[in-house]
Amino acid sequence: MCGIVGYVGRFSENREYFAEDVVLEGLRRLEYRGYDSAGLAVYFDGQLQWRKKAGKVAELEAEIAARPLPNSVLGIGHTRWATHGGPSDINSHPHVVAGGKLAVVHNGIIENFAELKSSMQDKGYHFVSDTDTEVAAAVLADLFEQTGELTLAMRKACQLFDGAFTLLAIHADQPDQIVAARRDSPLVIGLGEGENFLGSDVSGFIDYTKKAVEMDNDHIVTVTADEVVITDYDGNPQEGKRFDIEWDAAAAEKGGFASFMEKEIHDQPAAVRDTLMGRVDEKGNLAIDELRIEESLLKSIDKIIVIACGTAAYAGHVARYAIEHWCRIPTEVELAHEFRYRDPIVNEKTLVVALSQSGETMDTLMAVRHARQQGAKVIAICNTQGASIPREADAALYTHAGPEIAVASTKAFLAQITATYVLGLYLAQLRGNMFADEVEAILDDLRAMPEKVQTVIDGKETVTSLAKSMQDATSVLFLGRHVGFPVALEGALKLKEIAYLHAEGFAAGELKHGPIALVEEGQPVFVIVPSPRGRDSLHAKVVSNIQEVRARGAITIVIAEEGDEAVEAYANHIIRIPQAPTLMQPLLATVPLQIFACKVAEAKGYDVDQPRNLAKSVTVE
Ligand code: F6R
Repeated sequence: MCGIVGYVGRFSENREYFAEDVVLEGLRRLEYRGYDSAGLAVYFDGQLQWRKKAGKVAELEAEIAARPLPNSVLGIGHTRWATHGGPSDINSHPHVVAGGKLAVVHNGIIENFAELKSSMQDKGYHFVSDTDTEVAAAVLADLFEQTGELTLAMRKACQLFDGAFTLLAIHADQPDQIVAARRDSPLVIGLGEGENFLGSDVSGFIDYTKKAVEMDNDHIVTVTADEVVITDYDGNPQEGKRFDIEWDAAAAEKGGFASFMEKEIHDQPAAVRDTLMGRVDEKGNLAIDELRIEESLLKSIDKIIVIACGTAAYAGHVARYAIEHWCRIPTEVELAHEFRYRDPIVNEKTLVVALSQSGETMDTLMAVRHARQQGAKVIAICNTQGASIPREADAALYTHAGPEIAVASTKAFLAQITATYVLGLYLAQLRGNMFADEVEAILDDLRAMPEKVQTVIDGKETVTSLAKSMQDATSVLFLGRHVGFPVALEGALKLKEIAYLHAEGFAAGELKHGPIALVEEGQPVFVIVPSPRGRDSLHAKVVSNIQEVRARGAITIVIAEEGDEAVEAYANHIIRIPQAPTLMQPLLATVPLQIFACKVAEAKGYDVDQPRNLAKSVTVE
């Protein structure tokens, strides 16, 4: 939540770009992290100048167009998802204190802000906003007055702060540097030639450099045009971990689509293909280089717990069916925010798989820490390099979906399923549950999926016209069994979050235990039908479920594979997907549900990429 950008370069009048350009571009790219207000501060000629505005980055741009900023090579910016204090101009960042000399932007929550605030008030400080950030800025200004040095002041300030935070500060008396600190909130450094960058993630500076440095928790960095100096809060020198950014700037553009969500739905064949790439060694065995956990340990595990939130948790539910089937290891899926509060039974024989697109979800990060404290090994399945969760896990397996900008997750979901399947097959091979040729046959099924996903996308017109015809629905139900159940949950979540439409996903078998009472004349019900070539009884039972709701007046929208004629008599609408083995079906059946939600939201005139109240990366608990 909240996007942060910083830029420091060397001044010359004929430069191609200035701090304002870099910071605004970074804010546009990071806007998915929060979009209720935005602001930036730059240094010029002995003083700071700043603009901030409630609303999206576009409002800030309009404000800057009306009141232009000077050409500068030092700037920080922020796009906000409000925690303390509602979205307003005054609560927007940067918070500028010390008579206009010190500007601070912040992501996270300073938990002891009330106590700090009253001690600053005792010193005569008058607060103008409702934010914890202004308190942090006031404390920093006070310490700057005592020390005369921004880095030193930041070190001391961080020792006073409780909670999670990333802070960036600039001071008019030290105009060659940005000082930044982090604890449990994201921050990455971008390395340039004669210029350096800071961002909540690499998309904050992806247009300018491909070289980046990860920074650990409880570290401070002082960034000038030529130097990056990292220390801990006591001033001891620290090393960051360098990495090359794999994403390119074009991957973070809409590429001609109306929304990022639509573009990302279209990215899905590539996301699955790229996530599968490079996983097989020259002998034809599955080999996952990133998994630096001893094989003997992986052989000895007796339980897997997948921890994740939201869409990622639904990917985990899909994975559970496959992993238990292939590896015969009991597998649980747990919402990360529930995990550590129920005192889970976790020990050295437990493998925890943390699924997270952003790699920054605080609930998941905290669950990872809890699991490791209990002795479990943790594998992170993640899409974002340099993020906290893969950094703190014992091993990381990256999905290669490219940057996911739309708040509603799409391609990350398919990539997460793909990566968990690769992990499941790897474990099955390692532990001798499957023969090499069996693993290879399933890998072949997986390799065939990108083309099939493309076929579903190519058929989007049917779903689009259905969505238009249903835009006035007030409630939509989704039913599925086996792997179709988490797909139903995901279909309902997509509709809730971007079309603001009441939607529920149910296990189809649960229907008669209560939810069927919801069905009345005209109720739209999506049903995900398993392959008739899979488990016979499963298919037959779902067909009965369609009959049951249809008999009570539901409008049935049936997702069924090509050639499945049994559904025709009971379907008001049929969406066809290519034939695929049962466990592969989620990679196909989810796609029309994503398109449906996207098109209903579009038809209702909503902002598909930035739905109300949400943010992409949930870095508070
Ligand atoms: C829904 C959605 C969220 C995320 C959840 C976890 O479309 O995007 O439910 O899946 O917040 O996020 P990550 O995967 O970044 O941990």
